Amino acid sequence: MKAIILSGGKGTRLRPLTYSGAKQLVPVANKPILFYCIENIVQAGIHDVGIIISPETGQEIMNAVGDGSRWGITIKYIEQDVPGGLAHAIKTARKFLADSPFVMYLGDNLIGTRIDTFVKEFRSNSPEALILLKEVENPKQFGVADVTKEGKVLRLIEKPEVPPSNLALVGIYIFSTKIHEAIDNIRPSSRGELEITDAIQELINMGCAVESFILDEWWLDTGKKDDMLTANVIVLDELLKAGIDGQVDGKSNILGRVSIGKGSVVKESKIRGPVVIGENVIVENSFIGPYTSIGNDSKIIKSSVEHSVIMDGSELRDIERLEESLIGRNVRIYRNNKMHKALRLMIGDDSVVEV
Ligand code: TTP
Repeated sequence: MKAIILSGGKGTRLRPLTYSGAKQLVPVANKPILFYCIENIVQAGIHDVGIIISPETGQEIMNAVGDGSRWGITIKYIEQDVPGGLAHAIKTARKFLADSPFVMYLGDNLIGTRIDTFVKEFRSNSPEALILLKEVENPKQFGVADVTKEGKVLRLIEKPEVPPSNLALVGIYIFSTKIHEAIDNIRPSSRGELEITDAIQELINMGCAVESFILDEWWLDTGKKDDMLTANVIVLDELLKAGIDGQVDGKSNILGRVSIGKGSVVKESKIRGPVVIGENVIVENSFIGPYTSIGNDSKIIKSSVEHSVIMDGSELRDIERLEESLIGRNVRIYRNNKMHKALRLMIGDDSVVEV
């Protein structure tokens, strides 16, 4: 079995962060979302992995991911010239996929479980498609599946006015080679894209077995700011391992699960986990509160921050209280008057904010 990870697209919902970078590389607990996808695929025993990239952000993805050797696999890159839809991405990968069944994994998806049972189910039942579903509270905002009690998929509807169920399409699928035939039969939708929902519907119409698998664990579509912060909380809660590779002076106080990377220095500060601090970070006279991720080469000076994501190379100075914020790369936030106010921000890469 092979896998393709979709890492092209436009990323409009995470602007401005995605003006200057690929959304799949936005970090959750200091690790790009895309890396969680790759790890999940490798854990399921799949070593033949292709990543769909766009001409705009492809190089950045290749630089971050490399050839796959750090996961013991070889990664092939497949350029999709336009973001023509998820089924268009499969069409683009046709040569790579050849005559193999494959997992299709959206590169901005984060799920709280491994995918090996999902893969096993496909192997033992051999349907033409197996799609991962998750119960959601607001099905009108998702692609929704109408399924029988046994899990057979009858119909798929994109953002339905009257949802037939509360089961949303998660963005992880397994297909046999039949999907190529179905894609050849469909036309672009009203938004001009070759939709995967249309291709799966075509499989159903062709009389093929399309089955579903319901995800019990959490699923985060990391499309928006609040989703990113929730993802950060959940991943720090569940996956963070404590470990201090940097230096912490005697006047500092570290409580709970805290990870501090190589070359980082903490002076006269209090850190209350779960917190992850990257490499070469300086924390001085500051408080870092729970559920905070601080990227490499950042500086937190005389500031207080909690429940936030601060990406690489950013600097906070004299900020009394920053919370629930998502800060891009190389951002500087500093104080130039005496007013105290809690801040709630979403700021793009390379921004400078004076408060
Ligand atoms: P989407 O979130 O559906 O689309 P998008 O990336 O254009 O994002 P937004 O809604 O914020 O504008 O895409 C899901 C994943 O699939 C994402 O990782 C990007 C990727 N993708 C492709 O690789 N090729 C495509 O043609 C499309 C539409 C998406």
